[in-house]
Amino acid sequence: EKGGYDHFMIKEIFEQPQTIFDSLRGRLDAKKGTLTMGGIREYADMLKNANRIIIVACGTSWHAGLVAEYMIEELCRIPVEVEYASEFRYRNPVVGPGDVIIAVSQSGETADTLVAIESAKEKGAIILGICNVVGSSIARASHAGAYTHAGPEIGVASTKAFTAQLAVLCLVGLMVAKEKGAITPQRFQHLLDELENVPEKVATTLELNEQVKNIAAKYKDARDFLYLGRGYNFPVALEGALKLKEISYIHAEGYPAAEMKHGPIALVDENLPVVFVATKDSYYEKVVSNIQEIKARKGKVIAVITEGDTIIPGMADDIIVVPEADELVAPMISVIPLQLLAYHIGVLKGLDVDKPRNLAKSVTVE
Ligand code: M6R
Repeated sequence: EKGGYDHFMIKEIFEQPQTIFDSLRGRLDAKKGTLTMGGIREYADMLKNANRIIIVACGTSWHAGLVAEYMIEELCRIPVEVEYASEFRYRNPVVGPGDVIIAVSQSGETADTLVAIESAKEKGAIILGICNVVGSSIARASHAGAYTHAGPEIGVASTKAFTAQLAVLCLVGLMVAKEKGAITPQRFQHLLDELENVPEKVATTLELNEQVKNIAAKYKDARDFLYLGRGYNFPVALEGALKLKEISYIHAEGYPAAEMKHGPIALVDENLPVVFVATKDSYYEKVVSNIQEIKARKGKVIAVITEGDTIIPGMADDIIVVPEADELVAPMISVIPLQLLAYHIGVLKGLDVDKPRNLAKSVTVE
């Protein structure tokens, strides 16, 4: 059942070229330049005219929501908020007709998310569900939605569900941008092509598995880790830190790289590994300065960078080189080494990576 792999987690990490492809299949046709989202077609008008879009989710799905916030605001020029479902539910939020809620959930059974959308629905909001499990409670409680096609995810740590969520949320953003006329035909076509190329680039990135394993061996005894990124890679940093915490029980924090200087930089010394998600994008130069700030304080820098980068290799202690991609789709690629790093550190520590202590696959209590 693990298909020759030692654990479900690594099997699921390696399935991602296929699961991303499956999540795009039948929806995206880059050659024809078309995009069809059957499940939410009839809500396209509502989405494009929405006062705002509120994404509610927990954990890894919330991280996917953060990436979507950046994508949808940039592509569609609609204000987007991303809320922890548990907070959204209990703080009596201002929500009503004209608001569209996007609930993101792998299991479709997360109690916090389910209760949050039920109360927003009562207040008149439209609910779209992005779920992986067909017929799940959140899918049923939504007015409409689009499934991720990641297949069953057994490992408690979410991996392939995350990248499938990013793929589907990107499709939603592109669909709304097109309907709204907010995107040029050239940029639309470019992003369709970029999306179509993601599965292959993820496959290339997975070839780095052995190299990431060596990096894992080098840092596995660290007490704390910091993960930093900016822009589209900021949520990737959060996700990398969450994976490490769950799987290796090492304390890790994800932070927007620029926010470091407002406090956390005090933690940096020669014992602290700092993982930078530093692929080539519009924030690149700024991230380079942030790496300098860490090196000046003797932190150990592990950097995920784009092929062809000639600057960061001279600064970082370890580099992981991934294929170039548009910044909108880059998180699906840059998260892969972070999933592998957490997996290998967990395995090297002799931990049960598929079923970490204290965690359940779906959290059905509030
Ligand atoms: O099934 P959901 O996507 O609603 O689950 C949300 C979180 O419980 C989930 O992402 C959790 O954080 C994972 N253990 C992360 O790896």
